[in-house]
Amino acid sequence: MVKSNDIEIPCKESLVVITSSAIEALIAFIKKGTYSRCFLIIDQNVYTRYGEAFLQQLQQKINCLVSYFVVKSGEAVKNLETAGECWQKMHSFQMDRAGLLISMGGGVVTDLSGFAASCYMRGIELVHVPTTLLAMVDASIGGKTGVNLPSGKNLVGTFCQPRRVFIDPLYLNSLSRKEFSSGLAEIIKCGVIEDPSLFAYLETQMDRIMALDPKALQHILHASCAIKAKIVAKDEKENNLRALLNYGHTFGHALETATHYRQYLHGEAVSIGMCCAAEMSFRLGFVDAEFVKRQESLCIQAGLPTELPSSVTSNELFKLMRFDKKTVSGKIHFILPTGIGTARVISDIDERLIESVLDARRGV
Ligand SMILES: NC(=O)c1ccc[n+]([C@@H]2O[C@H](COP(=O)([O-])OP(=O)(O)OC[C@H]3O[C@@H](n4cnc5c(N)ncnc54)[C@H](O)[C@@H]3O)[C@@H](O)[C@H]2O)c1
Repeated sequence: MVKSNDIEIPCKESLVVITSSAIEALIAFIKKGTYSRCFLIIDQNVYTRYGEAFLQQLQQKINCLVSYFVVKSGEAVKNLETAGECWQKMHSFQMDRAGLLISMGGGVVTDLSGFAASCYMRGIELVHVPTTLLAMVDASIGGKTGVNLPSGKNLVGTFCQPRRVFIDPLYLNSLSRKEFSSGLAEIIKCGVIEDPSLFAYLETQMDRIMALDPKALQHILHASCAIKAKIVAKDEKENNLRALLNYGHTFGHALETATHYRQYLHGEAVSIGMCCAAEMSFRLGFVDAEFVKRQESLCIQAGLPTELPSSVTSNELFKLMRFDKKTVSGKIHFILPTGIGTARVISDIDERLIESVLDARRGV
């Protein structure tokens, strides 16, 4: 049963539900449907903490057969081989087109499961139970799925809107501080590109957020999921507006690649990327120095890095940005803030300006 204090946010064919019990909300949803079987794809760390109790409840309270596949934790499993294992296990379990695929884990598992659901028998229904902050506010919403190839990240994927996303903040209690901060970067991003009141809330309530205060968490989850849902509803396939969600990502992706995905979590690289983008906006006269300072101090309060490492050269980063999969005809697209709550996409930036911004944002 959906509880009275659950928050529901529509997003295309999805409904994002912020709830105090993901398992109860999931069971109620399944009971209303006519699913033939349910298959759970679950992250190893999440399985260790929550898996048995979750599966037990599911098996006891719904009327169809349930099976599951525990995938190792970490980005390395997000590939075609694991997707193939999922399909094979689903087929051995006799999942047909009326089956429901449930994902439970961080963005690795939501991306992998979304991809698996969209291809299995040409597409079956999908529900996400995200368990990292990043997956709650970003990866589980919007329908982008994908796996990595040995030559690059997210190179193969589909668009597949989950029917439901059940966000239960209780799962955040076991998340490491570093992973929690990484998710906060995407929430700060939402405040900067779209919502001055979210930005102000983060500035004044960061202590409560870092202490996992339930009301404060509910507030930021609601605000950021609503922003992502609104943007995706207007531009699902990233033809224009959805690109704004890549704020901080042009610099961030280059940094992740340059450091071989080992030095920074995604949100940490995005935080540094947002600081680079703010510096660029300042140099172009779109924002004042106060904006740059406020955003940087918010990232620091959230436990995030804000400066490029000295180990990576500006030239290296510049080259990587030119070869990013979002770069079209050699033109690097930058999402630049024009104030708190507004941003725009700019493409024709002088190469020297890019390099001087990178030089300026480098720590010693
Ligand atoms: N589809 C999209 O729109 C989209 C958007 C952003 C990111 N992504 C993808 O998301 C992935 C990153 O997601 P992520 O940051 O969630 O990483 P992740 O899925 O690797 O999870 C991070 C770590 O947290 C652990 N974990 C998960 N939930 C936990 C919990 N409740 N308690 C304790 N540990 C827990 C996992 O085992 C893992 O070790 C990347 O592959 C990225 O490409 C996709």
